[in-house]
Amino acid sequence: FHVNMDASEADKGTYPHYMLKEIDDQPAVMRKLVQTYFNDAGEIDLDSDLLADLKAADRLYIIAAGTSYHAGLVGERLFERLAKIPTEAHVASEFAYNTPILSAKPFFIFLSQSGETADSREVLTNIGEAGYHSLTITNVQNSTLSREATYTMLLEAGPEIAVASTKAYTAQIAVEAIVAKALGEANGTDAASQFELANQLGLVANGIQALVDQKEVFEKIAQDNFVDQHDAFYIGRGIDYAVSLEASLKLKEITYIHSEGVAAGELKHGPIALIEAGTPVIGLITQSKTASLTRSNLAETAARGSHIMTIVSKSLANVHDDIILEDVDETLAPLLTIIPAQLISYYTSLLKGLDVDKPRNLAKSVTVQ
Ligand code: G6P
Repeated sequence: FHVNMDASEADKGTYPHYMLKEIDDQPAVMRKLVQTYFNDAGEIDLDSDLLADLKAADRLYIIAAGTSYHAGLVGERLFERLAKIPTEAHVASEFAYNTPILSAKPFFIFLSQSGETADSREVLTNIGEAGYHSLTITNVQNSTLSREATYTMLLEAGPEIAVASTKAYTAQIAVEAIVAKALGEANGTDAASQFELANQLGLVANGIQALVDQKEVFEKIAQDNFVDQHDAFYIGRGIDYAVSLEASLKLKEITYIHSEGVAAGELKHGPIALIEAGTPVIGLITQSKTASLTRSNLAETAARGSHIMTIVSKSLANVHDDIILEDVDETLAPLLTIIPAQLISYYTSLLKGLDVDKPRNLAKSVTVQ
């Protein structure tokens, strides 16, 4: 007879929702990626043809949609910092029909959890016809984007079932860091050779674990500061801004609270008009060169009545901060910064009685343009 059960139902174990399990999976995924991509000597094992193609490129184009695009925005900074190669992240649906003028020797990196997103497939078809080479970074072996790209690297995250992506985002950033370090070493950059990535990813795994071990903290923040709100803002600068976009997406996807990620310096040019009494504004503060500027921008919203909260790296924290992250290299901070946002969104959705794993109007994999 027919058993009406999702094939992966058993994977949820004792968890009430896939999303919570997938958030908790993240430390193990970080460790798995170290095992997968580093050899016993602690060196990165990258396909030599892939490395040669990357080395030959004068610019990287990262193409993706949704959460994967947000991982691409972090990747932009990783590649530029570690490999010293100009890198641009693009929304696939825009790039496909409004392609910018390309550099002389472009190389394309597709980020896609499912490997099936139609918008990204359209770009891959176009650049393949133009004769350009590409790498797909995906969670699904033999997916369309994997089969059609020149090279594939897997996220090793295990099945991601919840519509709101969590562990694929952090895995994508980690794999980008691995590729960026390998390319940087091949290019002879000090930034890459001095970057102890395997060790750092171990620290990241511990840092994520410390956060997921305090779930009651995030449940209380959700209850006290989010459940009754209709708007919320995440703000940051640089790489923190990139994470603020993903933090905001997590909130809108599963709680239906209107949310924006804002470059902290842009608040005063418009978004601050939306601040009302009690509106949550969460500052992401992990980059030393802009920490005090972001704090000033937060204070400006507090003066208009917002309820401000901070997610801060330990070395930049003070006694008034709300959520403290373990210290990791600043370029890898996104791997920790996003965790509180994932958990706050999860608990807010739960407390509102919504369908956490299957939010309205959204699909896990979008195969139409
Ligand atoms: C959908 C999903 C998102 C995902 C996006 C891109 O919108 O709901 O969670 O980030 O597609 O999917 P991909 O599989 O290409 O990463």
